[in-house]
Amino acid sequence: MYTLNVNGTTYQANVSDGATPLLWVLRDILGLTGTKYGCGIEVCGACTVLIDGQREHSCVYDVSSAAGKRIVTVEGLSPDNSHPVQQAWQGCQVPQCGYCQSGMIMAAAGAIQAGHRGPEILSEIKNLCVCGTYQRVRDAVQKL
Ligand code: FES
Ligand code: FES
Repeated sequence: MYTLNVNGTTYQANVSDGATPLLWVLRDILGLTGTKYGCGIEVCGACTVLIDGQREHSCVYDVSSAAGKRIVTVEGLSPDNSHPVQQAWQGCQVPQCGYCQSGMIMAAAGAIQAGHRGPEILSEIKNLCVCGTYQRVRDAVQKL
């Protein structure tokens, strides 16, 4: 059993193997399916969450290491899509299929939280998008 603080709520997650990736605990046990699985090897960024304010790939982050830390997923970014990144993404209609976008948004939000501004934010986003939304991501970041 691991105590997880996700989006300000405390959960008791019944997980037998502490090496279980946080991604599967978020999705399959807590039902927070906004965080996506893409590659599982820290390449695509679809699984990006914030842990104690740092951007992390939840596909390779052990649940045992996440216990007791402050985890933020895309569901917890704002209660009403009012976070500046969400507003910029919406304004520029960034998503196409949408699959990668929660990871993109969390990467941008994490970059801002880390103190990056302007073009620096863009250089901090390494996420992959099969639909090729990169130009729209650039446009959205310019609004931040
Ligand atoms: S699923 Fe984690 S980086 Fe691709
Ligand atoms: S919007 Fe489809 S993969 Fe990025």
